[in-house]
Amino acid sequence: MNYESPMTDPVNTFKTFDLTRVPSPCFVVDEVAIERNLKILADVQARSGAHVFLALKAFSMFALAPLISRYLSGVCASGLYEAKLGREYFSGEVATFSAGYKAADMPEILALSDHVIFNSPGQLARFRPMADKARKAGGKVEIGLRINPEHSEGWTEKYDPAAPCSRLGTPISQLSEGDVAGLDGLHMHTLCEQGFEPLARTWAAVEHQVGPWLKRMKWINLGGGHHITQPDYDRDGLIALVRRIRADHGVEVYLEPGEAVALHAGILVGEVLDLPENGMPLAITDISATCHMPDVLEAPYRPALLGEADTGTTYRIGGPSCLAGDVIGDYTPAAPFSVGQRIAFLDQAIYSMVKTNTFNGVPLPAIALWNSDTDKLRILREFGYEDFRNRLS
Ligand SMILES: Cc1ncc(COP(=O)(O)O)c(C=O)c1O
Repeated sequence: MNYESPMTDPVNTFKTFDLTRVPSPCFVVDEVAIERNLKILADVQARSGAHVFLALKAFSMFALAPLISRYLSGVCASGLYEAKLGREYFSGEVATFSAGYKAADMPEILALSDHVIFNSPGQLARFRPMADKARKAGGKVEIGLRINPEHSEGWTEKYDPAAPCSRLGTPISQLSEGDVAGLDGLHMHTLCEQGFEPLARTWAAVEHQVGPWLKRMKWINLGGGHHITQPDYDRDGLIALVRRIRADHGVEVYLEPGEAVALHAGILVGEVLDLPENGMPLAITDISATCHMPDVLEAPYRPALLGEADTGTTYRIGGPSCLAGDVIGDYTPAAPFSVGQRIAFLDQAIYSMVKTNTFNGVPLPAIALWNSDTDKLRILREFGYEDFRNRLS
């Protein structure tokens, strides 16, 4: 297959899009870019024999569920609500992992999920009788345990589930044969926006210990964080590794990328509301870092702006909220901003759309679906005062 695509220049996909066609603010997702990513993932799936799931935590746009389900084997969920969404809209399997399950949610989670993955032997022991009961009653749910490989590849502790004192996964050094007896599978997730090599090194660090356990299991889930749809990702390396794990250990291999499904496929459109000055040119917009792109402050990172230039007036762009730190970053647009002008931040389909909130009563962005081949545009969702009010009492 030929993957020469606008992904090598993500701006390309949206540079022809007229930003005034949507309400502001608004997430605009290009279904052509999503399908291009899905084709790459489906190819990896077909050539490696892995089962590739969409991680709903990164991208939950259920309007695209029929398209996504045509290419991928299922979804991974972070708890009851995502498992419900996965079952309701997507076809294929549902794998659920949470760092802590509540007893009240467990019967429904067990009924909705093909795999339920526990974070600790404690949670496993607490809920195993429920899982056994569900299976005796004809349920097909399989159970697994998340391990912490105690091998770090992360650049920052906040995004490194293998960092010291991490609460995610059971440290592999604490596990014995007895802890994993009777399990259907193991899960590990330690990567974040990474290429193939960190996965290869992580697997090499744990294989000698998990290999003998896998002999009595059905699957290993290698989590997410694999940037498989980036042009420079070593997909042949991944395919070879998956094939080798399947052959050597006799297990099915699951991958659950989130970002890779919607990389370079969505923008967040906003409007310039005011252009004051204080030590430098400022731009107040109806896009808020804290409400609409919280990872800008949490990660932190600087999202790219559509149409940035090397020279010109540099503005500090920020949101309308009261938070002094509601700053998206410093940007130099190709031409000076004017009030009322539309702007767009790139790569906002992933994580931003699922993390929005209405702090200060800041309106939620609308959601639109665009087809960059046909130019067809659909405004799928607009939010109003009621959406703000209904989260409160
Ligand atoms: C358990 C698990 N699986 C999958 C993912 C998806 O990761 P990404 O969107 O980076 O591919 C995450 C992300 O945090 C995760 O915690």
